[in-house]
Amino acid sequence: MEEQRKITKKYSNGEVTIVWQPHLCVHSTICFRGLPNVFDPRKRPWVTPEHAESETIMKQIDACPSGALSYLKETNEDEDVEVSNETIVEATKNGPLLVYGNISIKDHAGNFIKKNKVTALCRCGASDNKPFCDGSHTKINFEG
Ligand code: FES
Repeated sequence: MEEQRKITKKYSNGEVTIVWQPHLCVHSTICFRGLPNVFDPRKRPWVTPEHAESETIMKQIDACPSGALSYLKETNEDEDVEVSNETIVEATKNGPLLVYGNISIKDHAGNFIKKNKVTALCRCGASDNKPFCDGSHTKINFEG
């Protein structure tokens, strides 16, 4: 499989900046099923943050299982961020391990990668972006 370029795109409504990293996407479709007026892959640009309240956008992005979508708040840098102490790992049916919480991952080259909210880890062995899921489990019809 051709390696996707690791690009990052940002879309702002003045309050919140949506950060989009397509190489991390596992094509769960959760974003555009949940908030189709902001996320519409048929349109260019496909992300239009001006079409919803910032709170609604952030709530939707929190549901992104891959971390391909994240956000930065434009203000309130000193605001306390509530972080749960508990990390929850969920094995999804025929799909990745979802890890909920802030985690650090050491890759095979010894690099540390910090992830927060929800991280999808490959459980099928077919991902080209290990240890992360890249959606390949659907292509190989992974069952488990
Ligand atoms: S579990 Fe998704 S690519 Fe392996």
